[in-house]
Amino acid sequence: MRLDRWLAEAGFGSRKEVKRLILRGHVTIDGRRVRDPAYKVRPGEQVAVDAEPVEPPTLKRYFRFYKPRGYVTSTRDPLPTVMEFFREIPRHERLFPVGRLDRDAEGLILVTDDGELAHRLLHPKYRVPRIYLVTVEGEFREDGLTSFRKGFDLGRRKTLPAEARILEKGEGTTLLEVTLFEGQPHQIKRMFGILGYRVVALKRIRYGSLELGDLRPGEFRALTREELSALRKWVGV
Ligand code: URA
Repeated sequence: MRLDRWLAEAGFGSRKEVKRLILRGHVTIDGRRVRDPAYKVRPGEQVAVDAEPVEPPTLKRYFRFYKPRGYVTSTRDPLPTVMEFFREIPRHERLFPVGRLDRDAEGLILVTDDGELAHRLLHPKYRVPRIYLVTVEGEFREDGLTSFRKGFDLGRRKTLPAEARILEKGEGTTLLEVTLFEGQPHQIKRMFGILGYRVVALKRIRYGSLELGDLRPGEFRALTREELSALRKWVGV
């Protein structure tokens, strides 16, 4: 692994910050000063910052989690956060949820300590699909479906083309499946709001190749190696 990434992953700050440390000569490897951020650290080499030996970065962790309603998708908040479910996990303070679901929404969230993968999964450039089950008040009119493909003006920028289909018309509500390829704040509620519908239930069931599957509210499971490599493929890592 490159020295700058190695140090960033070992907790010495962002890539930019650790590059500065290296260039200023604070870093040694097996006692020799190294000023090249691209230096490839080999297993067994002793990296030190200001002569203090540094523990090698640990392997990254990845969990798929069923966020229940009533929790905030954040690491710090006066209200109960999704991180309360991870208190028993060693080094849980490094974990964070990837992206947001509103407090009253539920469903799939990836929780990890891999900042690089998280950044890519959230970036609209990669167009990672997120699938939601959405219940709206009233009978949804079919002609509203094309608006999702055309895009909505939500102020900051127009939404990317999305997909929507009606799954079920119930007693005073309609159940739809919506696929987004980005995540703007409260995007689904705002899109339906523009069409004159109120969202009464929102559940994410898929994120890229990751599925909510049989998880129950509040449960999480470590990704299998196959699940992780399938997810990485979406974003080219
Ligand atoms: N869209 C919303 O409005 N809320 C969410 O939590 C996710 C997508």
